[in-house]
Amino acid sequence: MSVTAGDETSIASSPKLLGKGAFGIVYEGSWNGEKVAIKRIDKTEFLVLNEAAVDSSSGGQRREEENMKKLDHPNVLKLLHVEIDENFKYFYLEFCEATIGDYNKGTYTGPMPPSEADSLHQMASGLSYIHAMGQVHRDIKEDNVLIHKSSVLKISDFGFSKPTTASGSYSLKSGVKGTQNYFSPELLRLAEEQASFGILAHQRSNVSSDVFALGCVFYSYLTKGKHPFADPRGSFFIPANVLKGKCKLEVITDPLFRSIVGGMIASNPVTRWSLDAVELQLKPRLTQNC
Ligand SMILES: Nc1ncnc2c1ncn2[C@@H]1O[C@H](COP(=O)(O)OP(=O)(O)O)[C@@H](O)[C@H]1O
Ligand SMILES: [Mg+2]
Repeated sequence: MSVTAGDETSIASSPKLLGKGAFGIVYEGSWNGEKVAIKRIDKTEFLVLNEAAVDSSSGGQRREEENMKKLDHPNVLKLLHVEIDENFKYFYLEFCEATIGDYNKGTYTGPMPPSEADSLHQMASGLSYIHAMGQVHRDIKEDNVLIHKSSVLKISDFGFSKPTTASGSYSLKSGVKGTQNYFSPELLRLAEEQASFGILAHQRSNVSSDVFALGCVFYSYLTKGKHPFADPRGSFFIPANVLKGKCKLEVITDPLFRSIVGGMIASNPVTRWSLDAVELQLKPRLTQNC
């Protein structure tokens, strides 16, 4: 990971923009002769502070680098190298062709895993590994699942990730983070509490909120872009439907996929399916069932 004499990095003079999110601008570049994606993050966003410091500071809290460095799994985007200058931090990442969002919109029509079951299983096994490594992702959504040219899906964007206890729980001292339309009902309730009282000092959540978000991604992947809690009045009404448990599962025609997604987006985090259960149910349907 460190810079060595042999390392060669480059960004073309007018680099190709690959994507833009809330925090990073991502360009195409090269590293040791390999095509890579380079995510540039503003200095103010990558300060990694401890929990106590976060509570008393308005500074950024980016654990993206330290968390990604611990992860090594085919379905998790690999951080290859890091560079820093006075204003920015640059993450050199495995290059991917597109996101699941692009696939859903039809703007990506290239190689995909051999079957829908394989795609779902790959996403579940990437997230399950992240949880097993003691991390919660907190921003699972269709734009944060990337498609590699080898037809492999990879969970990406660890900007909101944080460590968990062995049982998968984590503190909300620094607030509820993520993308609202993928929040589980329990996170939405906590976000409301945060909006009313300003702080969630002693509240905790756990990795099952990532499972809920992945259930929403499964749904959008299977329906080419629909949201399970969509509302004819517009996406503004999604959180209200999540809180009411008002979803349209019947749109998923395959009974196995319907029951898996239903289990993942269950309102009660206690009865919500585990990723182990999801993987087990998908296993008989995998192309290479080993
Ligand atoms: N490794 C990659 N290969 C190709 N495109 C990428 C890669 N990483 C990110 N992108 C593109 O850039 C977008 C923003 O990157 P992301 O890591 O999600 O940043 P943010 O934290 O700002 O959301 C992604 O949604 C995707 O379109
Ligand atoms: Mg993102």
